[in-house]
Amino acid sequence: MAELGHAEVKAWLVERDPAALEGLWAEADRVRRERVGDAVHLRGLIEASNHCVRACHYCGLRAPSRLDRYRMTPEEILEAAREARRLGYGSVVIQAGEDPGLTEGLVAEAIRAIKADTPLAITLSLGERSDAELTTWKAAGADRYLLRFETSDPDLYHLIHPDLPGRAGDQARDRFAQLRRMRAMGYEIGSGVMVGIPGQTWDTLASDLLCFREFDLDMIGVGPFLPSPRTPMGGPDAAAYLAPRGQVPNDELTTLKAVALTRLLCPAANIPSTTALATLDREQGRELALQRGANVVMPNVTPLAYRVRYEIYPGKACVNETAAACQGCLEGRIRSLGRQVGRGPGGRVNTECQESATSAFYR
Ligand code: 5AD
Ligand code: FES
Repeated sequence: MAELGHAEVKAWLVERDPAALEGLWAEADRVRRERVGDAVHLRGLIEASNHCVRACHYCGLRAPSRLDRYRMTPEEILEAAREARRLGYGSVVIQAGEDPGLTEGLVAEAIRAIKADTPLAITLSLGERSDAELTTWKAAGADRYLLRFETSDPDLYHLIHPDLPGRAGDQARDRFAQLRRMRAMGYEIGSGVMVGIPGQTWDTLASDLLCFREFDLDMIGVGPFLPSPRTPMGGPDAAAYLAPRGQVPNDELTTLKAVALTRLLCPAANIPSTTALATLDREQGRELALQRGANVVMPNVTPLAYRVRYEIYPGKACVNETAAACQGCLEGRIRSLGRQVGRGPGGRVNTECQESATSAFYR
């Protein structure tokens, strides 16, 4: 069967006809059910540090932001993981800004403590790190690593991700290369992009989605760009970043199309319904993504006092709910869709990222 190509993906991204879109939603939901089933896996998100050495133009944690910075200790990280376990989650995601203060040893200690104490799978999301660190963490028990490549357009990537001082051209800056190295180390690898980041055109977004298939990603996060006033892309000069023609909007419909197409391109991947989408549509964002391709939710288990300080963008959904309240709310939402909460670590179900859209779907 032919593969979905650039032209088809782009045509679906700009599609406006409600009847045609119903077909896209139904196909994404069918492929999701057939390939990864009805279980919705819950990953407890631990926001371990809001320190960051980088200055990405879209992110509220960027080094120049005036923020009340914190870094959790290995004991606090373990305690948050225990909370995830008590709530019945099968895995945790330890995420942070790019923080050298989360040292190789500190992170390894937290991983070993969680593995000794719980059956949880561990995903790391700690930015661009050295092979030595990544190898140590894998040996300590880490299972997966998330590193969004953010955009497949190299010019846009360079514009919005300034080099670290003294590290221009460093191989560590190449996120695709790091993803490949992590896969060779035995990690399940995840990546993703923001929808509607200023400067993103329909062609860029179509290429982004095709990159997911090319890399045969195990996990793919796609959420809308949400402007943060602490950043150049959310400040008075924001308009200067917009693509002169064909700028992708950072809206819910476009994000849902991207999620649905991601499921068709990578049928076996684990795809979260993102917090950014829930922030854009608090009523229905999570549910709509779960009905249009997604099969994972990442509820926050960071201690409340820290969570409010992890402000990548403002108004993040579920910032003030305790982990237990969020749990009750989410389980109800999942059951109301006729789905169940997944048990166990919820890793990649099989090995190949082939397409399984029916031929009727190609046009
Ligand atoms: N809006 C939406 N998502 C954002 N991220 C960073 N800044 C923003 C923003 N302003 C996403 C990036 C990053 C992930 C952890 O959060 O894609 O990889
Ligand atoms: Fe978190 Fe509802 S999903 S409070």
